[in-house]
Amino acid sequence: MNTIAQSIGGAAVTTKLAMRMEDSLQAFAVRAACFIGELDVPYSEEFDGHDFGATHVIAYVGDEPVGTVRLRWFQSFAMPERLAVIQRFRGHHIGELLLERCRTLAAGRGCNMLYVQTLPGDVAYWEKHGWRRLVAEEAASGAKRIVAMVKAVDPSKPLPEVEAPESVVLRPEPQLDAAGVPLGIASN
Ligand SMILES: CC(C)(COP(=O)(O)OP(=O)(O)OC[C@H]1O[C@@H](n2cnc3c(N)ncnc32)[C@H](O)[C@@H]1OP(=O)(O)O)[C@@H](O)C(=O)NCCC(=O)NCCS
Repeated sequence: MNTIAQSIGGAAVTTKLAMRMEDSLQAFAVRAACFIGELDVPYSEEFDGHDFGATHVIAYVGDEPVGTVRLRWFQSFAMPERLAVIQRFRGHHIGELLLERCRTLAAGRGCNMLYVQTLPGDVAYWEKHGWRRLVAEEAASGAKRIVAMVKAVDPSKPLPEVEAPESVVLRPEPQLDAAGVPLGIASN
């Protein structure tokens, strides 16, 4: 476990990577509370088949799992998804801590870019934490519900040139290696 110099009500705030099934269940419990319970995300959308091919980071206050993010790995980028902090623990930079853990993990694996897909209403959150739009707002197509955002793993280096990888990251896990745009996904 990676303890950082932060506490809430005297309890240490820590993060760890899920290793055992119980760790994953803690991550899933936090996500169920935030996304299914609070934000009305359907179960089938939340648990989309990518969880067993991903790295899960969990944040704790003392022994209590309070936040999570999952990280999927691609050849040229890593993709944090499902970032969630239990409502009563928000405002203590736990989300930021989870994303920083993603960044250092990606750096350790030689990955130089982080990529997220977010809702337009959350773009300000990512910008506040140093992310930028992959495609400038003026250039993005008007009706798009999802905004792609990127951040360099090493902030002192420029972002690599990348194409929008939507058609890859939206594939179900067993079809990741297939060619062409996934069935049922509108092309950009
Ligand atoms: C997004 C979330 C993980 C943030 O967790 P957190 O630990 O409270 O927040 P962080 O430490 O990462 O960041 C806090 C800062 O971001 C700001 N912030 C939070 N949500 C924001 C939003 N949607 N837009 C703009 N700013 C936002 C806070 O006001 C705070 O600002 P401050 O540092 O000036 O006080 C949490 O609100 C959450 O779980 N939301 C529900 C799940 C969700 O929508 N996830 C999608 C990811 S954006």
